[in-house]
Amino acid sequence: MKRREQFTSRLAVVFAMAGSAIGLGNIWRFPYLVGQNGGAAFIFVYIIAVALLAIPVFLAECVIGRRGGSGTFGAMRKLAPGSKYRWAGLVTVVTPVVLLSFYSVVGGWSVDYLMKACMLRFTKDTTGVFDGLLSSAWESIFMHTTFMIGTAIVILLGVKKGIERFTKVTMPLLFILILVIVIFGLTLPGAGKGVEYLIKPDFTKITPSVIAAATGQAFFSMSLGVGTILTYASYVSKEENLMVSAWGTAVSDLLFALLAGFAIMPAVFAAGIEPGQGPGLIFDTLPYIFSQMSPWVGAMVSILFFLSVLVAALTSSISLLEVGVAYLVEEKGISRTKATIGLAALVWAIGVACSLSGGVFNFLDHLCSDWLMPFGGVLFAMFVGWKMSKADVRDELTNGGTRNIRIFNVAYFLIRYIAPIGVLGIFVTNLLR
Ligand code: PFF
Repeated sequence: MKRREQFTSRLAVVFAMAGSAIGLGNIWRFPYLVGQNGGAAFIFVYIIAVALLAIPVFLAECVIGRRGGSGTFGAMRKLAPGSKYRWAGLVTVVTPVVLLSFYSVVGGWSVDYLMKACMLRFTKDTTGVFDGLLSSAWESIFMHTTFMIGTAIVILLGVKKGIERFTKVTMPLLFILILVIVIFGLTLPGAGKGVEYLIKPDFTKITPSVIAAATGQAFFSMSLGVGTILTYASYVSKEENLMVSAWGTAVSDLLFALLAGFAIMPAVFAAGIEPGQGPGLIFDTLPYIFSQMSPWVGAMVSILFFLSVLVAALTSSISLLEVGVAYLVEEKGISRTKATIGLAALVWAIGVACSLSGGVFNFLDHLCSDWLMPFGGVLFAMFVGWKMSKADVRDELTNGGTRNIRIFNVAYFLIRYIAPIGVLGIFVTNLLR
């Protein structure tokens, strides 16, 4: 058997995982959920959900992936032959298809906005450039098609490495650009209200549905419950400290989300945009911000910004398509080309439905983050907490008893009890609301 490729350095591991984690979830989804779920109170719950539920599931995926040395299905089969858990491998195909279908529509909007930025459309006073889902359905479908073809081409040509090299430039660039937008946004008249909205939690706003939304977003943003992190972890060398990878990814992902919130909300309040309007929020707000900058600065920042958002979206979308393709190739013996084209076509067709109907879009968006991803996450956590032997888990998380000795017990407790119970609680909440 061919030895699996391995990441060459600690930074490379965190980079690849962060590349999958940081994407539209941080820049597009986080701000709109903050706006729909009460601002600072949502952020507060979100951080707790990351610490108590997402990080443990992340660790669980790492343990399965590295110990099992292959993708979801194969790793589980190897670690627990014959166990029913291996059917969790199915989330590896179903969830990416559903997720990618609406993700690609939003990716398409980014392509659209990049083109508009290049045509200097955001240098004049531009409000209401975002035409919404329905009024620009054909444009939306066209752009979604472009984004999906781009994703499939990267997978087919196997140029994922090339893209990942590209992210080493665009990721820091994105970080700097968001920072520029944050600083600029703070100077807008009326921005103070937006800042207050983000830092002064009104705890009465914390309802079961806010908790559910925050948890779902934590899974979405850290790419959990799909098998992406699990698959990446199978390429991680034994010497790597998984706890560090988990922390590194969680912290950088959180940082990008918070920064995006601080880039968008002050301008939302300055421009009098409705914070709870939903998925169109950043696409309504960003043009306003760019149009307030001096024309050449606005043009440059907007072009570079949408370009780097696009690359961030692409590193996430390729990681999504790749898990599904790898499953079909490894487990079903389908050729790589057929698997890629087949899955991409399916994703594309569902994405067309999302472009045509805001209802379908919202339904699939919530189906993923409220149900499918937490479901996958809970299976992974329970597999590690209840199916694998504690000695094996300890061996992985402490690197054979040499590191993280004290924190291991806390992590194990979170994986075994808190993550499953917490997520099941979320399911009950989702059923009742
Ligand atoms: N975490 C990505 C984002 O925040 O944009 C979305 C995502 C990518 C989810 C890959 C799941 C996944 F497997």
